[in-house]
Amino acid sequence: FLVSKGNHRHFMQKEMFEQPEVISHTLSNYLDFTMGTVREEAIGVDFSTIDRLTITACGTAFYAASVARYWFEQIARLPVDIDIASEFRYREMPLSKNSLALFVSQSGETADTLASLRYCKAQGLKIASVVNVTGSTIARESDAIFPTLAGPEIGVASTKAFTCQLSAMAALAIAAGKARGTIDARQEQQLVRALSEAPRYINQVLKLENQIEAICQHLAKVKHVLYLGRGTSYPLAMEGALKLKEISYIHAEGYAAGELKHGPIALIDETMPVIVIAPSDRLYDKTVSNMQEVAARGGRVILITDRKGAEGARIDTMATIVLPDVPELITPLVYALPIQMLAYHTAVTMGTDVDQPRNLAKSVTVE
Ligand code: G6P
Repeated sequence: FLVSKGNHRHFMQKEMFEQPEVISHTLSNYLDFTMGTVREEAIGVDFSTIDRLTITACGTAFYAASVARYWFEQIARLPVDIDIASEFRYREMPLSKNSLALFVSQSGETADTLASLRYCKAQGLKIASVVNVTGSTIARESDAIFPTLAGPEIGVASTKAFTCQLSAMAALAIAAGKARGTIDARQEQQLVRALSEAPRYINQVLKLENQIEAICQHLAKVKHVLYLGRGTSYPLAMEGALKLKEISYIHAEGYAAGELKHGPIALIDETMPVIVIAPSDRLYDKTVSNMQEVAARGGRVILITDRKGAEGARIDTMATIVLPDVPELITPLVYALPIQMLAYHTAVTMGTDVDQPRNLAKSVTVE
């Protein structure tokens, strides 16, 4: 069937703007917003009987899984192993029968992810998948499916599938916490309410498009960009770097802010912008001191934060993108938006083929 771009210049832009709606859709599948509870019938796994989660994915889906790892560990106190599928399938990792093997894939057809699934199945593990295409091979070979309701994603660079993967896994982490008794009914309600607000905040962030487009006039001229973040903002930094590489062909790296001093600080000068993802959470002060190390060496910072974070930064930034104050659980969902828009408008400014970047495929069905 045909999907049109509507009033948007590219599918990627259309898909970014669809996010409030498709996230809302995805969350409603797992959560009862009125009651502030998990819909237990949508969770086809008994998390109280497993003692470990092994998550495997590729590309953007891997970064979504890397964010979710923090949620499963913090909310459900569930130990998480995570790897990219092309490594996992040959690692010969010893697996315990009480592990749940979870696979994350937009297409449900990625060859390495499917091979990893079959490896875990042969070891006798229970298999679950977070998939966007529910008729896909990965979905068919899973014991439990957690759908993302993003709808068809046409742009090669994943946007709405990523935030829907985050949404589904945040809901799963709450379900796991409930089943394992690590959160009580009041905490469940708080977390569900926090998630339910994500679409509204994302709508506010979409209104910053003009400001972000202006910043991209500078980004389009550089050769290298470094992204920094801590906690769930660390995988988001890697996703930001991936998005920029994929569609603008600018070399970018995502790093854990605390690792700056172990190498990348040597690269800092005025020619390589450093994009710092720092909501004013409990790790904010640590990230700010890394940012000050960058500024002290002549590095130019683009800071993505909230109002309180912007006031506490105490350096001259090249630009500061001020997002709404949001509950900690949903920062990766909300902060994903400026990351996507920065990559998109840099690519548009440079005139690259945004929806069909060179050398990339939407779905990689060969090894
Ligand atoms: C390709 C796509 C990426 C995607 C990755 C994993 O590299 O270009 O956007 O993240 O495959 O795809 P999957 O369908 O398994 O999520």
